[in-house]
Amino acid sequence: MEITQKFRGVYIINGSIATENIAPQIRVYGEKLIKSNDKEYRIWDPRRSKLAAAILNDIKTFPIENDSKIFYLGASSGTTSSHISDIAIDGLVYCVEFSPRMMRNLVDLCSIRENMIPLLEDATKPRNYIHLVEKVDVVYCDVAQPKQSELFMDNMRLFLKEDGIGIIMIKSRSIDVTKNPKKVFKEEESKIKTSGFRIIEKIDLVPYKKDHMAFVCGFSF
Ligand SMILES: C[S@@+](CC[C@H](N)C(=O)[O-])C[C@H]1O[C@@H](n2cnc3c(N)ncnc32)[C@H](O)[C@@H]1O
Repeated sequence: MEITQKFRGVYIINGSIATENIAPQIRVYGEKLIKSNDKEYRIWDPRRSKLAAAILNDIKTFPIENDSKIFYLGASSGTTSSHISDIAIDGLVYCVEFSPRMMRNLVDLCSIRENMIPLLEDATKPRNYIHLVEKVDVVYCDVAQPKQSELFMDNMRLFLKEDGIGIIMIKSRSIDVTKNPKKVFKEEESKIKTSGFRIIEKIDLVPYKKDHMAFVCGFSF
């Protein structure tokens, strides 16, 4: 079996991407587990996780280090955030989710993965959890909501370190189902650029996700 490293903590195993499982023998979403040389890897499905799709589509900026602190908006039941927790083994992943049903699964997952912290909160109201979260290296946003760029920027302003990186996954249909996706992406890009941020990189998520674009951002000063 051929295992190569794409980024620190992100592996390519026979063409699939994977992370090393910090909770051996436990699957999060039915993913395949692979053992090699006393290590266990979890195959990371790009059709289930937009970050995996962005990595396979050659994202250049990958800001997650082993000790990174990540603020994750829209964690759902933990598919992508669990892979981030495999990478940031000595860091922390704060997981915001407002659906109580998703939160139940997330709480179970966080009890197994000590570097994940569940927060049952509405990401449009960051001041409600300002006392619970420190400054972070990465803000990751995947809430699939019409106003997601706005809430992404509000959370970056409050929680992102000056040299930190923000990643937002934009699904054009969540913003406006009637508009041409290219127009939606242009409008969201311009909103972000005129609000004090710069776009470092844009990654189209086709063929894994149709009409989705990842934007990698930082402060513009
Ligand atoms: C596309 S799913 C996220 C999938 C997840 N990021 C993954 O890759 O594993 C979007 C999630 O965002 C949550 N969400 C939407 N609006 C939110 C808000 N204002 N605050 C917190 N969570 C929100 C939804 O409940 C849903 O679970």
